Amino acid sequence: MTKRILSGIQPTSDSFHLGNYLGALKQWVELQEGNDAFYCIVDLHALTGEIEPALLRKRILTSAAQLIALGISPEKSTLFVQSHVAEHNQLGWIMECIAGFGEANRMTQFKDKSAKGGADSTRVGLFTYPMLQAADILLYQAHYVPVGEDQRQHIELTRDLATRFNSRFGETFRIPEGYILKSGAKIYDLQEPTNKMSKSSGSTAGVLEILDTPEANAKKIKSATTDAGREIKFDEKEKPGISNLLSIHSALSGQKISDLEDDFAGKGYGDFKAAVAEVVADHLRPIRDRALELLDDEQHLVQVLHAGADKARAVASATVAESYKNLGLVL
Ligand code: AMP
Ligand code: TRP
Repeated sequence: MTKRILSGIQPTSDSFHLGNYLGALKQWVELQEGNDAFYCIVDLHALTGEIEPALLRKRILTSAAQLIALGISPEKSTLFVQSHVAEHNQLGWIMECIAGFGEANRMTQFKDKSAKGGADSTRVGLFTYPMLQAADILLYQAHYVPVGEDQRQHIELTRDLATRFNSRFGETFRIPEGYILKSGAKIYDLQEPTNKMSKSSGSTAGVLEILDTPEANAKKIKSATTDAGREIKFDEKEKPGISNLLSIHSALSGQKISDLEDDFAGKGYGDFKAAVAEVVADHLRPIRDRALELLDDEQHLVQVLHAGADKARAVASATVAESYKNLGLVL
């Protein structure tokens, strides 16, 4: 039976990086086969941080272009922008009226982010973020929500809110399940290979960006931190840098890590890094080229997103109507 899939990603960086691609987005592409997948660029969630209008606009469009370029097909799946479907705000409010202050206050992502910013720069929207996320998911009656481990608590909250609503007001929402992405493809910063590759790392020297030129990425790989040894061997404790490069090569080329170790036995780090740079360039070059091509015709890209929003709205509006009716609102 085909399953309904829903996931979202925030348009908060100028380019997705290899960690986003291998850790999450590659699996989004796989999940569109044989399922009914909805993928949402969650621009309203991105408003909970600093808002730079010109930058936000650019990032929404580059996110869309990259998703299509890396294989999310607007024909196979429904790709859309959250703010284009007003039902997200409508159900978001309902979820805020179902959630308890106490349970919202236990969300660790809110606690971490608000602790960093302090009370005065923490927006109320950051507090209500998980209720909007619950709406994103419940609107589409999703069976599965592919996300990283860090989103587990938000999925649990979504399930709790849906269960509470259903038992108080009648069956309205499918109870979704998290589809926690396999952590096998965790990618680390090239400069500090014990930290996750991340958009928020201080410098981009260790971050391989999809929209970077192949030359720039090759340079980053060639200056990746390695250890003083000579062996190309997977050993995350003693050789985190080399292990990370082995993971990257293997995830992209499909070759087993043990086979790569055999192939590079007796060769130096220089040869190995050159091979990794080539594999990365071979995989990212067509994605970058296609994304830039899509960005060249902004009007067409926006049209594709509007078509996605129309498909999304058809499902979302039925769910809102059902929930309004069950709440006793007059339709
Ligand atoms: P973020 O925008 O950092 O929240 O990441 C978006 C998605 O990419 C999440 O689902 C993460 O699981 C995934 N992701 C981010 N960084 C990495 C990484 N270094 N390795 C693997 N997956 C990652
Ligand atoms: N909070 C998610 C993140 O930071 C993004 C997100 C918003 C999301 N709405 C969603 C993910 C709905 C899955 C489903 O990664």
